[in-house]
Amino acid sequence: MSDGDDGGHNGNGDTNAGDVVRRDRFSGGPARGFLSSLAADERIFEADIAVDRAHVVMLDEQGIIGSDDASAILNALGEIEAAGHEALPDGEDVHAAIETAVIDRIGERGGRMHTARSRNDEVAACIRYRLRADILDVLEATVEARRVLIDVASEHTETVMPGFTHLQPAQPTTVAHYLSSYASSLARDTGRLLDAFERVNQSPLGAAAFAGTPFDIDRERTASLLGFGGLVENSMDAASARDFLFETTAAVAALSTTLSGLAEDLVVYSNAGYVELADAYASTSSIMPQKKNPDTMELVRASAGDAAAGLNALLSILKGLPRAYNRDLQRAHPHAFDAIDAVAEATNVAAGAVATAEWRAEALEDAAGEGFSTATGVADLLAMSGVPFRTAHEVVATAAERADGSVLYDDLDAAAIDVLGDGLDAYVAQEEIRAALDPIASARSRGSVGGPAPDAVETTLSNLRSTLVADREAIEAYEHGISDAARSLETEVDRRV
Ligand code: ARG
Repeated sequence: MSDGDDGGHNGNGDTNAGDVVRRDRFSGGPARGFLSSLAADERIFEADIAVDRAHVVMLDEQGIIGSDDASAILNALGEIEAAGHEALPDGEDVHAAIETAVIDRIGERGGRMHTARSRNDEVAACIRYRLRADILDVLEATVEARRVLIDVASEHTETVMPGFTHLQPAQPTTVAHYLSSYASSLARDTGRLLDAFERVNQSPLGAAAFAGTPFDIDRERTASLLGFGGLVENSMDAASARDFLFETTAAVAALSTTLSGLAEDLVVYSNAGYVELADAYASTSSIMPQKKNPDTMELVRASAGDAAAGLNALLSILKGLPRAYNRDLQRAHPHAFDAIDAVAEATNVAAGAVATAEWRAEALEDAAGEGFSTATGVADLLAMSGVPFRTAHEVVATAAERADGSVLYDDLDAAAIDVLGDGLDAYVAQEEIRAALDPIASARSRGSVGGPAPDAVETTLSNLRSTLVADREAIEAYEHGISDAARSLETEVDRRV
């Protein structure tokens, strides 16, 4: 206690025996550690200082507490922030510990900080405040991954590769077409995160325990000092709602599921010699000296499991909770933070791996025609000449079944005679069929919207670039909103300390 004459708020003057909230009666016992979230709350330490500051500024502006008390509290908060989370006194959670630390510094008047609020609205505000920043980090990582995919794709609009279904060669495509498919998926993942941000970015502060307060508080003011886009209006909803946690975690889980597919492909393609990861993204074996393993991609693939586990934990914890506040909530948000950490890191690693990987054009081109992957193109050609597609399919399927090894013009011609009664040249010129059997020409021929022909991919890439620019602008606008609010809060605090 720095202020002796204000002592005695907890009966024995020893704040470490229990925080200002628990007092002597609830000073702990065997469940003390079990009840405490103080260690995990490190994540929301800065958020809590900001929430405290905004609340105190508002209480002062509304004349709910005196300006001298507001100044003393804000001064103490400055010292507590500088000392850091590790320096906090013992407490049930960061909110109680910071309040204890304020009272330790300035005496009982520090207890005015908690006027017209509860830890329930306070913790909800802190989680939302912190999660906002984390969502922005994962958004930054996601748009960077998209940029990398688009840039690498642009270099490979002519690089033919096998396209697979059921992991079997299906139709030739290009590396650009393949990579831009992931840029498209990640654009939707970005959209889901941006949507989640909107609903996270609402202020529950001022809900108090859940039931509002008789004090003439200004909820809009604290919301704006903290950069929130609006209020969670109903105070019971505001204190209880955690749907923003599973919404965010679901968006993160979707992102990591997308990345797990990319990672899996890169594992398979590395194994086939189609792509080589940079050494920085590979690992070797402790016994087998020749090994270069795509371990980073396997870890990216696994991180989707972390995110899914977090989502499952959240839904399980939150299901069936009665209104309004229950301590179960204390164990919810760490799952969202863990998921977002795992996925943000995996996103950065996946982007780095794609940026530095080398696509083996020759091996890809050789593989592109394997397994009669041009079969569909031949059937398409016959169908274009007027043969019903199903019949054309039968001609090519017959040739594929009979051929031993790769399917040649003669095999197709024989099948056409059997199925159609005429040789191929009654329908299509021989050179056209031969071209359709070439994987490069095959990929080039599919110029439908979103297809692999270089012109079509260029259009896709340019659309992907425009969406990327728009998403970056949305992210920057959120970042500016947050930093503008932080500056105005700082101005209000500086004016008082
Ligand atoms: N540490 C608590 C949490 O994270 C803060 C709220 C405590 N409120 C209460 N009524 N016990 O949920």
